[in-house]
Amino acid sequence: MAEQHSSKGIMWATIVAAVVLMAVVVPFSIRNHGSAADNSKGADDADARIQPVARFELAKAAPAGGGAPKDAATIYNSVCGACHNSGAAGAPKVDDKSAWAARVGQGKEALYKSALNGKNAMPPKGGAADLSDAEIKATVDYILGKVK
Ligand code: HEC
Repeated sequence: MAEQHSSKGIMWATIVAAVVLMAVVVPFSIRNHGSAADNSKGADDADARIQPVARFELAKAAPAGGGAPKDAATIYNSVCGACHNSGAAGAPKVDDKSAWAARVGQGKEALYKSALNGKNAMPPKGGAADLSDAEIKATVDYILGKVK
């Protein structure tokens, strides 16, 4: 008797779970069905539907370009360190003073120019095109402070 009772309980639990699942899935599939119909109206609707996602992505990326300037240590660690910590791509390592000595001899302006425009395996701005020139120069200063 007790066993029968508990198997009934399982049955009811299964039914409740199925109803809940349908309550979640059915409105969703109706919405999808609606959007499939919209698709036949043209691509503009599809653009409008994906826009919130795109806007979210833009909002996420915005602080890098439009926000307050990042400090040099942060930029160094997140962008430049990828090559200059390890020597990847033949980059002069930040702790290799002799590798920097000759470069420092070119003068600061030349180093700024290399960092801004790229040099051989180094892409312009270390690949972080969203950084401002001032941020890049400050980061070069940061590196020079470390290699002195
Ligand atoms: C993809 C790897 C890579 C990244 C990322 C990178 N660098 Fe470089 N960097 C290099 C390489 C390689 C060189 C050596 C270029 C050469 O002389 O051939 C170099 C050289 C330099 C030099 C010396 C330039 C010269 O004229 O001798 C400076 C200054 C410099 N990097 C600054 C930076 C700054 C600042 C960042 C971050 C914003 C950065 N780098 C990010 C690879 C990188």
